Amino acid sequence: MDLDSAGAARRLMARLDAFAAFTDEPGKLTRLYLSPSYRAACDQFAKWAQAAGMRVRVDAVGNVRARYEGKTADAPALMIGSHIDTVRDAGRFDGNLGALAALAVVEQLAENGVRLDHAIEVVAIGDEEGVRFSAAMTGSRALAGQLSATAMQAKDGEGVTLDQALTAFGCDPARACACGAKGVAAFVELHIEQGPVLEAKGLALGVVSAINGATRMQMTVNGVAGHAGCVPMQLRRDAVAAAAEMILAIEARAKAEADLVATVGRLEVEPGAINVIPGLARFSLDVRSPGDERRRRAVGDIDAAAAAIAARRNVEMAMQPIHEAAAYVCDARIVAGFDRALTDMGLPAFHLPSGAGHDTMVMGALAPAGMLFVRCAGGISHNPAESITSEDGALALAALTRFAVDFRG
Ligand code: GLV
Ligand code: MN
Ligand code: MN
Repeated sequence: MDLDSAGAARRLMARLDAFAAFTDEPGKLTRLYLSPSYRAACDQFAKWAQAAGMRVRVDAVGNVRARYEGKTADAPALMIGSHIDTVRDAGRFDGNLGALAALAVVEQLAENGVRLDHAIEVVAIGDEEGVRFSAAMTGSRALAGQLSATAMQAKDGEGVTLDQALTAFGCDPARACACGAKGVAAFVELHIEQGPVLEAKGLALGVVSAINGATRMQMTVNGVAGHAGCVPMQLRRDAVAAAAEMILAIEARAKAEADLVATVGRLEVEPGAINVIPGLARFSLDVRSPGDERRRRAVGDIDAAAAAIAARRNVEMAMQPIHEAAAYVCDARIVAGFDRALTDMGLPAFHLPSGAGHDTMVMGALAPAGMLFVRCAGGISHNPAESITSEDGALALAALTRFAVDFRG
């Protein structure tokens, strides 16, 4: 079946622009999980899905789920989607492209009166980024039936728990751990690459072979605040100086091993005054690797190095886990399905691993899962400069549509 995706692709690109208006911070795109702009984005997404004749609901963790029936009621579903929460000052394609492209697949079917042997469930997922709460991938964990009750107590920067935020959003957190999806034959996600490989190869699309595992920690260093003019250097217990040494040790540990990356992306200092020796430093740690064992070993080494620095500097250090996701090798049948879609379109079936985390790595616990990447300019992502061309967007939508139509559960 050949659906002409050109019009749908133009609509998709226009919608990505319009969707970027749902933001918590005027002038930039910041759409945190369960925020007012996340609500507005969910409402808009649901309206578009309803207009395409889908049955729509918001589940107990704020995922928007929309079902397009197959030829028979209750047929197993191909679930397609991605996240609609963003990082702070984000680009407009990370996550949003995959969620809106999933909708565009169904719109093409509906506009052509096509029903498939399988249903399609489109999902706009919340909290992939893990920016608001001390948790991540809450939406996909819930879909995959992997959400733990302790996650409900994760707090945001204002001390609001996930449980409280879900209640305020109109969800029932008591049902969050039991809202796993049923009847899902497979999950697929279209996403921008967020790296430079496809661009360097001169390719618009690539099939994801595997997704790196990740560990996230909150590190806290407690020293003693004091007068910047009066405490001699040898007698200080400076939390920031200790944290700085720890951060350099983290960088050195990551550099010492191929394919391992470690990032300190957030650093807070208290009391935070020009004339006060810092008494407290808090920083985030994000460690990723294709090998789970190698990642765990690196986290252990970082813990030991930070503890040694803390002991030498007479400060206290604590490392608290926030998020852990095992590496995921994409399902061979899904990879083969995307290979076929690309080959049928006359494109090379190029495979590449993902350094970024994705909902797919969690959804793999529910059903066979896989991803298609589209080239992004300069490999830039988590940055407002993130961009893809309309031509690549059209190819990506055509490949995803072809995959969905040819899918055999
Ligand atoms: C998600 O964007 C991640 O941090 O990998
Ligand atoms: Mn993403
Ligand atoms: Mn992201």
